[in-house]
Amino acid sequence: MFLDPHYIRDRIRTVPDWPQPGVQFRDITPLLQDPKTFRVLVDMFVYRYMDQGLDLVAGVDARGFILGAVVAYELNLGFVPIRKKGKLPYMTVSEEYELEYGSATVEIHTDACRAGDRVLLIDDLIATGGTMIAAAKLLNRIGANVVEAAAIVDLPELGGSQLIKAQGIPLFTVCEFE
Ligand code: PRP
Ligand code: ADE
Repeated sequence: MFLDPHYIRDRIRTVPDWPQPGVQFRDITPLLQDPKTFRVLVDMFVYRYMDQGLDLVAGVDARGFILGAVVAYELNLGFVPIRKKGKLPYMTVSEEYELEYGSATVEIHTDACRAGDRVLLIDDLIATGGTMIAAAKLLNRIGANVVEAAAIVDLPELGGSQLIKAQGIPLFTVCEFE
């Protein structure tokens, strides 16, 4: 029962017209707030990735930090933050991308991993796929090998998951909303 994706999906709230008219915002805060559901979610990721010979987990600012850091800790791996522009203090590389509601730039420290490191990339949600693709490009540019990109939610109608897979990036998501 707990491994049924509906167990997770049922605890994601939809907020209509936020942050702008026409957007159905899929809010993971009720899921995070419920200790049993949060644990089930983390365990799902931990069991999936425990024997994959990973070196690091990377998470995307800001919601990708929540799950990414906990999964890294449970897998006994280090955590790499991929941040919005202007937040990282050391030398960075940057990628600009388009969002469902605007555009943004993400950055990573140039010394965030070693060449050939096997990295799991985590975010909360895939919409247009722009964020995940930009984050994977950053990791590739500093020499990492993105073993898989993973998120809790896929919005397949926005086409992001297809784009990510078309770029040759393996993708795992727990549930979908139309
Ligand atoms: C949201 C979400 C993903 C991204 C998905 O982040 O957390 O990172 O959008 O959209 P995409 O697939 O179209 O790129 P947002 O930029 O809103 O930032 P936040 O995590 O700080 O709320
Ligand atoms: N990020 C981009 N689109 C989103 C949506 N519809 N819900 C939550 N986060 C998002």
